[in-house]
Amino acid sequence: MIEEYDLRIGLKNETTYEGQLTSKSIWGVLRGLETFIQLIHPSENGPFFQIQKTNITDYPRFTHRGLLVDTSRHFISLSNLYANLDAMSYNKLNVFHWHITDDQSFPYESKMFPLLSQKGAYDPSLVYSQQDVQNIIEYAKLRGIRVIPEFDTPGHTRSWGVAYPEILTQCFDNNKPNGKYGPMNPIKKLTYTFLKYLYKEINETFPDNYIHIGGDEVDKDCWLSNPDIQEFMAQNNIKDPEQFQTIFHEILYEIGSSLGSKLIVWEEIYAEGVNITKDVAVQVWAKSKYFDQVTEDGLNAILSSCWYLDHLSTGGDWKKYYECDPYDYVSSEKQRKFILGGEACMWSEVVDDSNLLTRIWPRASATAEKLWSSENVNSFTSAQPRLEEHTCRMKNRGIPAQPPNGAGFCV
Ligand code: ACM
Repeated sequence: MIEEYDLRIGLKNETTYEGQLTSKSIWGVLRGLETFIQLIHPSENGPFFQIQKTNITDYPRFTHRGLLVDTSRHFISLSNLYANLDAMSYNKLNVFHWHITDDQSFPYESKMFPLLSQKGAYDPSLVYSQQDVQNIIEYAKLRGIRVIPEFDTPGHTRSWGVAYPEILTQCFDNNKPNGKYGPMNPIKKLTYTFLKYLYKEINETFPDNYIHIGGDEVDKDCWLSNPDIQEFMAQNNIKDPEQFQTIFHEILYEIGSSLGSKLIVWEEIYAEGVNITKDVAVQVWAKSKYFDQVTEDGLNAILSSCWYLDHLSTGGDWKKYYECDPYDYVSSEKQRKFILGGEACMWSEVVDDSNLLTRIWPRASATAEKLWSSENVNSFTSAQPRLEEHTCRMKNRGIPAQPPNGAGFCV
């Protein structure tokens, strides 16, 4: 995406003002229009608006400026997802990371495997149909936003097992199945056949080059408790579950590259020594040290560890998000070119339609500014009134953003 634009508002002659917005691409035009909106102020003495005379050349510091929304722990209605995409565009964010499935529910209607949502969604009404997904992608596209789907594997997949328990691992206690299912079963051919067809569908459904395949928080104890997996590991001289997980991910990479997709994985895949190829990007969420190591190894990285919106603090807690800069997490300048950008993450264990927008906005605006503006835009005291104004602007445009700081009002 070329997002650079040039905006000039000035005097044409004695009586006429002229504005001009130019960009090499439509994406830059969209960003420039957002800036244009920000230049408009109510006039001090009358019911009019005025615009500042200015020349702006502007472009983002990072190409990947995202927001993750989890629609598995709670279903989020289409109207809120649309409003959220509006708000993302008001903040010049350009990637909607759709964490669409997880343990708790499977709300994506698959063409290939419709049972996944028929059995794995919370309710038949809480499903994104194929048409819904296309509508979201189109709505996002018109606002300059890419949609990257995440189908997290091999962990976080309990909801998949309601329809297809045979692709999950049966967990054992004292050599007996304990009735629970763990991560996907990496020793079954069926698992990969299933994923191949599903990822093929996902690749055709979502036009973005990237698919996020997850890889976080895999329950290794369940794997190790399963006698078939124990036998497989012994026969293949596999010493530890991390090495075992490598098998799964290397086959998933093959599936991804056979589809021509680029992949994003959570940091565990890197941390556990899975062989990662250069076209895989690593998203760091728990241990910031991996951001340094990933970029030192010449791999692309996405930062999220300092931008977890489910971590609430008292007062105007946007400040902690504003204090986070991706450059602070790498130890040398040469690593900077491997920083794709970052994402704020809205996990939805205690978030649904009633609080999604208020919880994200304007807190994610802090992340958005860190990812767009140059590194020397870092003053908390100058950002504070700007964020107040921006919050009022979002409210005026229909986003129920919460107050960023203390007491105040919007006109
Ligand atoms: C994560 O928060 N488990 C990525």
